[in-house]
Amino acid sequence: MAKPAPDPLEALVSDILKSPKYNHVCEELVQHIGADELGKRRNLKEAVKAAKNKLHQVGGAFLDGGAAEWGEALAEAARSGDLPAACEQIMNHHASTRERLPILEEFYTALFADLPPVRSVLDVACGLNPLAIPWMPLAPGAVYYAYDIYRDMIDLLNMFWPLVGVQGQAAARDMSRFIPPERVDVALVLKTIPCLEQLDKTAGLRLIETINAAFLVVSFPVRSLGGYDKGMAENYETRLHTLLEGKNWPVKRFEFATELAFVISKPEVEVS
Ligand SMILES: C[S@@+](CC[C@H](N)C(=O)[O-])C[C@H]1O[C@@H](n2cnc3c(N)ncnc32)[C@H](O)[C@@H]1O
Repeated sequence: MAKPAPDPLEALVSDILKSPKYNHVCEELVQHIGADELGKRRNLKEAVKAAKNKLHQVGGAFLDGGAAEWGEALAEAARSGDLPAACEQIMNHHASTRERLPILEEFYTALFADLPPVRSVLDVACGLNPLAIPWMPLAPGAVYYAYDIYRDMIDLLNMFWPLVGVQGQAAARDMSRFIPPERVDVALVLKTIPCLEQLDKTAGLRLIETINAAFLVVSFPVRSLGGYDKGMAENYETRLHTLLEGKNWPVKRFEFATELAFVISKPEVEVS
């Protein structure tokens, strides 16, 4: 009897999760992108190629190096009392945090200045941003929830929490579909909406509406190769106002050299 043909989605997922560049990506995202591409492409080979391109655009393009190599450096720095320097060095391996390093101090000082004590944080599609906790004015014993797609990065964050004195939980999830269940004081949605909207045009609105946070900090990149890009900043600001249409939520705007940020209050959610 002839063997049944392998399921194309299973074949695609297994092929991608075997490749060294994507073997740490959470399976639910590979399934999501794979199913979309199989629906659009002529055959499995084309769908695998297109899915890898998409994974590169939303994740691989930002990251250099492997998170498994950085845990020991963090543990050693914590022992020798120089954790912030090690965090800074490791944040250089992700384009988003690398770009934020020159403004890190003013970024969190300004954004958190008018907020009540921050006892809980949700970091959506976090990248290496939790390593900026030493720069965040959080209340003692704060709780921190973080999500991204790389399982090795998630393992690194789960070993990092006790070193930095927060109660943290990181998990690998596809945030273009997953609705985080936590109720928090502040949700960080940093440079994430354009990325998730490449996977699903409705993801930005869904996140903004369903995240259970008293304050949302939403930011956008404003730099291209030529430096501060006014057109890019204006487009993203217009996009945010479209997402907030009809909501009547107070919004404060903050312009930094490498990032445009907004602190949005959700009046229906109380701070803890
Ligand atoms: C532009 S970076 C922003 C990282 C971080 N928020 C920051 O500002 O430093 C986008 C991040 O989204 C993550 N990402 C992409 N698609 C995702 C998805 N579907 N679910 C969760 N995270 C995702 C990438 O791995 C990457 O770390």
